[in-house]
Amino acid sequence: MKQLVIATHNRDKAREITALLFDIGVEVLTLDAFPQIGTIVEDSDTLEGNALLKAAAVHHATGLPSLGDDTGLEVHSLYGEPGVFSSRYSGEHATYAENVAKLIAAMKHFPPRRRGARFRCVLSFVAPGTGPRTVEGVCRGTILEKPRGTGGFGYDPVFLPEGFDMTLAEMDLAVKNSISHRGRAVGKMLPILREFFK
Ligand code: IMP
Repeated sequence: MKQLVIATHNRDKAREITALLFDIGVEVLTLDAFPQIGTIVEDSDTLEGNALLKAAAVHHATGLPSLGDDTGLEVHSLYGEPGVFSSRYSGEHATYAENVAKLIAAMKHFPPRRRGARFRCVLSFVAPGTGPRTVEGVCRGTILEKPRGTGGFGYDPVFLPEGFDMTLAEMDLAVKNSISHRGRAVGKMLPILREFFK
C-alpha cells in the first residue's frame, strides 16, 4: 500500500487528518513512525512557511510523500494573535489548558462584538516528482468567556463556530471535520492527493 506521512507528532491533528483521508487508499503515517527525525524547528513567521518547512523536512528525511499542517487561531481584537504562535502562546512547552487560560484572560474585557476570530489551517504537500502544493482552510467564529466541551483539542473549547451553538469541543469528530479549517483545507488538498496517488 502506498504511504503518506503527516509531518506531525500531534496525535489530535493526525486523528482528524487521517479520518479525512480515509478514501484515498493510502497508509497514513505520522512522525511517531520516524523517531530518528526528532523535533522539526518551526522557525518561520508564517503558517505557510512552517507547513512547507515541515513537509519538506519530512519528505527529505523519508523519501515519502509528506503533508505538513500548520494552524493558527487569529483573534481580530488581538491583531491576529496568537496566530503562528498558537501552540506557544503561553510559553514554549505550554499545555492546551494554559494557552486557553491565557486567551480567556487576554480577552476578559472584550464585549461579544469584539470577540471574533478565525482558525486558519495551512497544508503543504511535498512529494517526489512534483512541486510543493499549499492550500488553506478557514473557520470563522467567536471566542467564549469560558470553555465548553471535552472533545477536540487546543482552543476548541472556547471556539464557537459561526452559525452553530456548539463549540468545536462539543462536536464529534465527524461534525468538527465537516466545518473546520482543517476539514476545509484537506477538502482542497484531496484532488491533489487523488491525482498523485492514482
Ligand atoms: P501547530 O500548527 O502545530 O503550530 O499548532 C498550533 C496550535 O494551535 C496547537 O497547539 C493547538 O493549540 C492549536 N490548534 C491547532 N489546530 C487546532 C484545532 O483544530 N482546534 C483547536 N486548536 C487547534
